[in-house]
Amino acid sequence: MSTDNVPLNDGRTIPQIGLGTWPLDDAEVERVVTTAIELGYRHVDTAVRYGNEAGVGAAVAASGLPRDELFVVTKLDGPFQGEDRALKGLDESLARLGLDYVDLLLIHWPLPAQDQYVSTWRTFERLQAAGKALSIGVSNFKPAHLDRLAAETSVVPAVNQIQLSPYLTRDDHVAYHREHGIVTVSYSPLGKGGELLAEPTILRIAEAHGRTPAQVILRWHLRSGFVAIPKSSNEQRLRENFELYDFDLSDEELLAISALDRGGGTDSDLKGH
Ligand code: A2P
Repeated sequence: MSTDNVPLNDGRTIPQIGLGTWPLDDAEVERVVTTAIELGYRHVDTAVRYGNEAGVGAAVAASGLPRDELFVVTKLDGPFQGEDRALKGLDESLARLGLDYVDLLLIHWPLPAQDQYVSTWRTFERLQAAGKALSIGVSNFKPAHLDRLAAETSVVPAVNQIQLSPYLTRDDHVAYHREHGIVTVSYSPLGKGGELLAEPTILRIAEAHGRTPAQVILRWHLRSGFVAIPKSSNEQRLRENFELYDFDLSDEELLAISALDRGGGTDSDLKGH
């Protein structure tokens, strides 16, 4: 089992499959991350808001892996926006994680009503220059927010992590990201494990390949060029979600899955995870 690496616009790479950790608490996340690392996962996604950075850090430490073999992502939310607040925020995250740096640091939400994401981004640029965040990016940003960063700051975000699944394909975001060299990271890539997994089109394609619905959906993300961070607490499903490179989908199948889009955005742009 393995994962491809996707190039970022800053010269680094990101493992294409990562482990989502919301809404696991410290104790549970430690168990799940430990299992995931044993299975071969090398990319773990957390956030201050999830309240589980310490558990992630404990699993990373216990893994005994060289630091540079793991890709650890965290996100700073509202209280860390504006002026230099992100400096202290990241130091606190690093202390909880037990790390000297994160591989990727994200602004969790743009929070346009606070109007502080531009100054926060400038602080992120400094954190990257200081080596505390090797790559920097954003989450839940709309193209208009990215336009504003492009106009007022100098570093293009390496990624925009957004909710994305066959039910919510967000073609406008994806096109913008492609045009500007921003990698799309899909969170809730399985549609939060609901109806999507029982969708007849998905079931038909899964049956044709002798794969599970989740594997077909994740393969669609990979073939679309996205990074995906499915969450599972279950060892068998963690394994399944990491066995994606030994089968492929036809162009027709990819189009049929994309056609499941129900359009629209999501209110988790401002809340949720
Ligand atoms: P569980 O943790 O019990 O495996 P998303 O990443 O889109 O938010 O989806 C997460 C949800 O999907 C969780 O409820 C998770 O439940 C479920 N899930 C994760 N992987 C699979 C899988 N391979 N098959 C079925 N359900 C899955």
